Amino acid sequence: MSIIHYLNARAVQAFEANEVPVELAKFTPSDRPDLADFQCNGAFQAAKALRKNPREIAAAIQEHLATDPAFEEVTVAGPGFINVRLTNEFLSKKLQQLDFENVIDEGEKPETMIFDYGGPNIAKPLHVGHLRSAVIGDAVKRIARSLGHKVIADVHLGDWGTPMGMLIAEMEHRNPDWPYFSENETSFPTESPIKVDNLNKLYPEAAKHFKEDKDFADRARAITAELQAGRAGYRALWQHFVNTSLTTVKKDFAALDVNFDLWLGESHADVVMPAMLADLKEKGLAVESEGALVIHVAREDDDFEFPPLILEKTGGGVTYGTTDLATIYQRVNLEKKIDRIVYIVDQRQSLHFKQVFRAAALAGYIDEDKLEHLGFGTVNGKDGKPFKTREGGVMRLAELLQMARDEVANKMGIVGKDDESLINMAESIAMAAVKYGDLSTQRLSDYIFDTEAFVKLEGKTGPYIQYAAVRVQSLIDKAADKDLKPSADIHLETAEERSLAMLLLDYPVVLKRAHDRRMPSDICEHVYNIAQAYSRFYQNCPVMTADSKEQSESRLALSQLARKDIVASMDKLGIEIPDRMVTFGDSD
Ligand code: ARG
Repeated sequence: MSIIHYLNARAVQAFEANEVPVELAKFTPSDRPDLADFQCNGAFQAAKALRKNPREIAAAIQEHLATDPAFEEVTVAGPGFINVRLTNEFLSKKLQQLDFENVIDEGEKPETMIFDYGGPNIAKPLHVGHLRSAVIGDAVKRIARSLGHKVIADVHLGDWGTPMGMLIAEMEHRNPDWPYFSENETSFPTESPIKVDNLNKLYPEAAKHFKEDKDFADRARAITAELQAGRAGYRALWQHFVNTSLTTVKKDFAALDVNFDLWLGESHADVVMPAMLADLKEKGLAVESEGALVIHVAREDDDFEFPPLILEKTGGGVTYGTTDLATIYQRVNLEKKIDRIVYIVDQRQSLHFKQVFRAAALAGYIDEDKLEHLGFGTVNGKDGKPFKTREGGVMRLAELLQMARDEVANKMGIVGKDDESLINMAESIAMAAVKYGDLSTQRLSDYIFDTEAFVKLEGKTGPYIQYAAVRVQSLIDKAADKDLKPSADIHLETAEERSLAMLLLDYPVVLKRAHDRRMPSDICEHVYNIAQAYSRFYQNCPVMTADSKEQSESRLALSQLARKDIVASMDKLGIEIPDRMVTFGDSD
């Protein structure tokens, strides 16, 4: 049981015994850590309703709590705040029980959750915007999983919209005699007629054509509708686009160690589309509007004109919204056991998700509070504007990762060397730099992609934390050579040992908070604090040259817990700790 749970349970007993409302029996970390570990303001808050003097209530609760040997001190401060300080023995016992692997989410029932993130689009390379979705999505999934939830990650490819028709129309325009375009053809080549580089080049050309030529745009829309309706030649060509695109997309995600259980796309919901549309019509929700089929999702208390969700466009073809709604229909109807769906997508798509969620709730597919859109801010360049290439184009994810790799290789001085272990080390550092740089920013804020800042070996960076963990391990290894090993008992003698212990004991609480708030940045903050507290401990509390073997081994045990905390925290962020690290640049 985490400390805060223990404290709250004690508080409930004390409040009950004194007939004070138990909802107020809550401890929080003390505002004055120099005076106390935790405080409870419940007595003060209850006083008014009970028409009693808050200090009197607090004193009665204090008396009740004081009998618990876990407390070194229970005092009443100010107008009626209860302060407690825990004994070092109690903290040591809790440290012994600390388990970074199996953290139990007290009081929450495990759910089956789908995490929808990544969201690459066929024929377009992954760009800087996909970085955040991938990295944040993978982290919130890992956090949920570590608390016992069943998680399913789905990449949800963008593979079914007008861009698909646009690409097919462009190919048709250039190669009208290919078999894919003749209506009666039934067999098509198994080999893709286009390689990935050409496909990525074709996309902007087709998009330009689409924008500038109205007839071409109409043709592309008509093709989209026919593709969706099942025309064999279009489907065959489209399948080539999907397969070709996926090979590079998979490579980029693999570099980031971002993983998916399902590689489904918008198109996957195609099979349920007729059934869903029929269902929505039957329920009277899908209605005609200016030649299109829509669901009205506006509510009386909306403070702006909330647009309807368009299901079928005039002239045919489903939309991004239809495929998302159909995917929900499919996920809950066919797979049944889904409790919750979490979408990690750019905050700018928030209206889209509101429309889809409202429609899903109206149709009775799933309660609206089981659908979550976790938005995020933009990745900017040093000029504070959305990150672009030097030429002003969209920054590709692969280029971005390469920038981080180059920065690390430069700093490590390994450019042009082919030492495999150094190269692997550099790769691990570069990915940690990018991921921590992203995740440590509060999710909804924008941030500046600055490889120089991300790669530093000091401050709030991935490499700094990795380095801290590597150093602790090397201390433990060195001690082992001298026959010193972490002891089972930990004696907290100095202020630095005690502060480190308090932070370590906070791990389960932080994990739960990061999950509840869907904020991986909470874990970044925690792990940075651990690294800092460890460094203060290390400077002030000699480990190898302690006063006694017992003290050395107690400090080694504390060191080992710090290492475990860092490894576990970084694992939730999807960041690995290398076995070895060389220092570089501005480090000590
Ligand atoms: N492909 C979309 C994009 O690049 C993101 C997909 C997000 N997921 C979803 N279920 N809509 O904007």
